[in-house]
Amino acid sequence: MAQSNPPLDSQHTKGRFSNKVCIITGGASGIGRATVNRFVNDGASVAAFDVNEAAGKHLQDELTAAGYNVKFYKVNVADKEQCVQAVKNVAEEHGGKINYLVNNAGIGAPCKGKFGTESSNPRGSDYIASVTREYSPSTLP
Ligand SMILES: NC(=O)c1ccc[n+]([C@@H]2O[C@H](COP(=O)([O-])OP(=O)(O)OC[C@H]3O[C@@H](n4cnc5c(N)ncnc54)[C@H](O)[C@@H]3O)[C@@H](O)[C@H]2O)c1
Repeated sequence: MAQSNPPLDSQHTKGRFSNKVCIITGGASGIGRATVNRFVNDGASVAAFDVNEAAGKHLQDELTAAGYNVKFYKVNVADKEQCVQAVKNVAEEHGGKINYLVNNAGIGAPCKGKFGTESSNPRGSDYIASVTREYSPSTLP
């Protein structure tokens, strides 16, 4: 029987996000880090937002050395002003364009992850979504 879905392994998806800009919150570790890896593999320029500066810088250094376009931003997604400023900075660096948002940090029930920094503010992910939408009408919440 013919396969109905397109192949999604990382070799087949290389380049599908070329010239696309993506913000990934909580990008320094866990699911967010894995998502950063996949988006850069697929050709996107990634802005990784996270409160963990050490892990974020490590991520940026490692992936930049591998030839990918990644920039770490220290952002607490529960802080509205930080969200607004960081999204503006990303937009300015990319000609006013943000294509995708992966709103990963603080989306679940308050919990302590590996770094114990999970936000318990349920509105944290809303700030990023609302301000990012200004730069990309098609960005999903
Ligand atoms: N792992 C699971 O099984 C699971 C299941 C359901 C939901 N989730 C949700 O998925 C998300 C990621 O989970 P994970 O397992 O990768 O967690 P994780 O703890 O491994 O990673 C979370 C990342 O988000 C960062 N972060 C935490 N609070 C932040 C804040 N206020 N601002 C910016 N960055 C912040 C952390 O520094 C860390 O790098 C979480 O929101 C979690 O609640 C995870």
